[in-house]
Amino acid sequence: MTAPVLTIHDLHLSYPARGATGTVHAVRGVSMEVGAGEVVALVGESGCGKSSLARAVLQLRRPDAGRIVLEAPDGPLPLHELTGNALRHARRWMQVVFQDPYASLDPRMSVGDAVAEPLRAFGLARGAESRKRVAKLLEQVGLGSAVASRFPHELSGGQRQRVGIARALAPEPRIVLLDEAVSALDVSLRAQVLNLLLDLRRDLDLAMLFITHDLAVVRAIADRVAVMYLGELVEVGFRDTLLRSPRHPYTRALLDAVPVPDPARQAGRTLVALGGEPPSQESVPRGCGFANRCPLAEERCFSERPRLRPVDGTAVSCHLA
Ligand SMILES: Nc1ncnc2c1ncn2[C@@H]1O[C@H](COP(=O)(O)OP(=O)(O)OP(=O)(O)O)[C@@H](O)[C@H]1O
Ligand code: SF4
Ligand SMILES: [Mg+2]
Repeated sequence: MTAPVLTIHDLHLSYPARGATGTVHAVRGVSMEVGAGEVVALVGESGCGKSSLARAVLQLRRPDAGRIVLEAPDGPLPLHELTGNALRHARRWMQVVFQDPYASLDPRMSVGDAVAEPLRAFGLARGAESRKRVAKLLEQVGLGSAVASRFPHELSGGQRQRVGIARALAPEPRIVLLDEAVSALDVSLRAQVLNLLLDLRRDLDLAMLFITHDLAVVRAIADRVAVMYLGELVEVGFRDTLLRSPRHPYTRALLDAVPVPDPARQAGRTLVALGGEPPSQESVPRGCGFANRCPLAEERCFSERPRLRPVDGTAVSCHLA
């Protein structure tokens, strides 16, 4: 990995439980790094805390505890300590693309104005200079500068997602967090947008934290993969190593649950259906979070919490790894 552009250390985020007393522990002690120009995929089933982790990193919701350091061109920025203007300015270096670009685009704002908005907000360009940069960004995302005068409702889903990406790239961030950013696109558009992101990574040395539940996307884009379960990272490793020889029982179950397109291979494969449900995040177990579903669980798994530790170049949180 190259020098980290984002360092997350022991991050915790909780919410008051909806409609009840109690606390939802959505992120529980996550530590990870993303290198400059590196793509890290964050995977795990629905509700495991992926979006919460992104929200906490972006400081859209203040974490309960933990450090988040962003390496800006003029030095490291401790996001967890910043407030007000300092935090607003720091955001320039870390942008986000959400799943639904329609929800994040103002319907009354033209595409050109939407992409120019961060340039204005961060004081980077105005007037003719801003229009020039917007045209270039729209070209970069493969839309062409002519769409600048169009409005979000005139565009297709894929085009809107590209506008979202152009907008995120406008302030020249070091890292972009993408939360299911290609999930709503059909297969061919998804491939186009993924290729675009890979080009941008190459051309701009852009780092990405890519949240997805789609393993085909992981295969296409990730350098490393982080597997999340019940608010914790259970395995982090290089893509090919992790996909070829997953070490954590949950990663194995997750990979086995993916349908194999080739029936000949499917036949010879033991499909471990992932039985049961994760425990409630309001009463997180004392031991391993995966123990109640794990085919290998033994006594200590229910009392001792495993920690992420290195195993042959991969980090795994399992007593038996
Ligand atoms: N605003 C909130 N208030 C209370 N609980 C919340 C809130 N937002 C999320 N949660 C809970 O926090 C946990 C983690 O949610 P999160 O949205 O981070 O999961 P996720 O991994 O992004 O899931 P998905 O793949 O479905 O997007 C879930 O139990 C969820 O119900
Ligand atoms: S620590 Fe125990 S329960 Fe948890 S994944 Fe490993 S074997 Fe399974
Ligand atoms: Mg989510």
